[in-house]
Amino acid sequence: METLSGKGNITPAIITEVANRFGTPVYLYEADLISEKCDNVLSMPNKYGLRVRYAMKANSSSAILQYITGKGLHLDLSSLNEGRRAHLAGIPYNKMMLTTQEVPIGKERIDLERIIQKGMKYNVCSLRQLELIADFASKNNIPLSMRIHPGDGGSGESATRNTGDKYSCFGIHLTDIEKALSYAKSKRLIFDQVHVHIGSGGDPEKWRENIDRELGFMEKYFPNAKTVNFGGGLKEARMPEETPADIQDLGLYAKKKIEEFYNRTGRKLLMEIEPGTYIMAISGNLVTEVIDKKQTGSDGFEFLVLSGGMEVNSRPLNYGSRHPFYLVSKDGKLLSSDFDLKHLDKKNDQRIPVGRCCESGDSQSLDEHGHIVPRVMANPKLGDYFVIGGCGSYCSSMSPFNYNSHVQAPEVLLIKNELICIRKRQSLKQIVANERQLPQRLIS
Ligand SMILES: Cc1ncc(COP(=O)(O)O)c(C=O)c1O
Repeated sequence: METLSGKGNITPAIITEVANRFGTPVYLYEADLISEKCDNVLSMPNKYGLRVRYAMKANSSSAILQYITGKGLHLDLSSLNEGRRAHLAGIPYNKMMLTTQEVPIGKERIDLERIIQKGMKYNVCSLRQLELIADFASKNNIPLSMRIHPGDGGSGESATRNTGDKYSCFGIHLTDIEKALSYAKSKRLIFDQVHVHIGSGGDPEKWRENIDRELGFMEKYFPNAKTVNFGGGLKEARMPEETPADIQDLGLYAKKKIEEFYNRTGRKLLMEIEPGTYIMAISGNLVTEVIDKKQTGSDGFEFLVLSGGMEVNSRPLNYGSRHPFYLVSKDGKLLSSDFDLKHLDKKNDQRIPVGRCCESGDSQSLDEHGHIVPRVMANPKLGDYFVIGGCGSYCSSMSPFNYNSHVQAPEVLLIKNELICIRKRQSLKQIVANERQLPQRLIS
């Protein structure tokens, strides 16, 4: 059976079925691929145990969280609301760790403390957060985790996804560790975990370097820490020319370093990682329809206007990210796939896919400078399907979906040969539900 990318189970026939049943644009996820990715990370070599936290910002739909935690993963949260959302999906707080830029005060602080008492781990990310949590943690004997900014050791797929250089402020900077620890000592606080996340989708070599550096922090500053969290950022290959992180290789490296740490210190460390992209990215396809075709003159380009663009996948606009494209005819034939372009004319079969938003950057093909670039693909007819691969992570959860008053797209999961709607399409009424009309007396 011909699948779009040669991986997984999504065939052209499934695309037409999904488009007919749910309309476009629609996100389509594949449970088997998510499961395979979860199994991969859970089999990462380790010395004294491994806990994998799924970074739920990558895709936070309830059904996805239920499926992934059902596979045995815990959760990494970026906000208190993510924790509440996961809890609404039935996930216990003791499977969560909060790593956030938020500084909850007032009612939010009371709720944060309630949730910590229910078992959520708190990963302190700033001196201000530390001051605010100190008395509560000390009084209740709650050990904390500390996120450390490693100085200049970050790496990301783009500059804006590097969280370990001087342009990002995630975590307590390594030059503030001693200050933080001396304050913590005065409050009798215990840090039983250390965390560093260097960025998203970066260089595996940098990931390895971070293992060494972070274990150095553990040894020098954290005598009571039992868990070392190496963050997320495991690279996934969306495009045919990309190479994914080698989980076995990274695990073997971490295992060796944790063993050496034990030989030096007598301390057995539990290892944590928190991938988002690696778990979800390639399990998701965004199904859109070709609704118009245009061109911009003899030295210009040929454009395909799609039924969904930057409002459903803003990664090309945000980062210049490249996604694989698949064209499927209305009657279910694969016209072209980025994984097999041999039959196309590289010079004349160049086209630019754009969305419906009133925004010249609303294209699915931009470079890192924001310039639109044509890509090789088949010449579809109006009504054919344009499918964007690699849309399982940071698409549905990160897109400006109500821009131009477009409604949020539905999400569908292919699971055990069933297509299950896990989020309905938003309605126009839902967009305006919280808005209030201006009183007539204020309208001139
Ligand atoms: C603290 C933290 N952990 C994990 C992740 C997940 O990163 P990725 O999706 O690249 O695996 C992120 C992403 O920004 C993060 O900020």
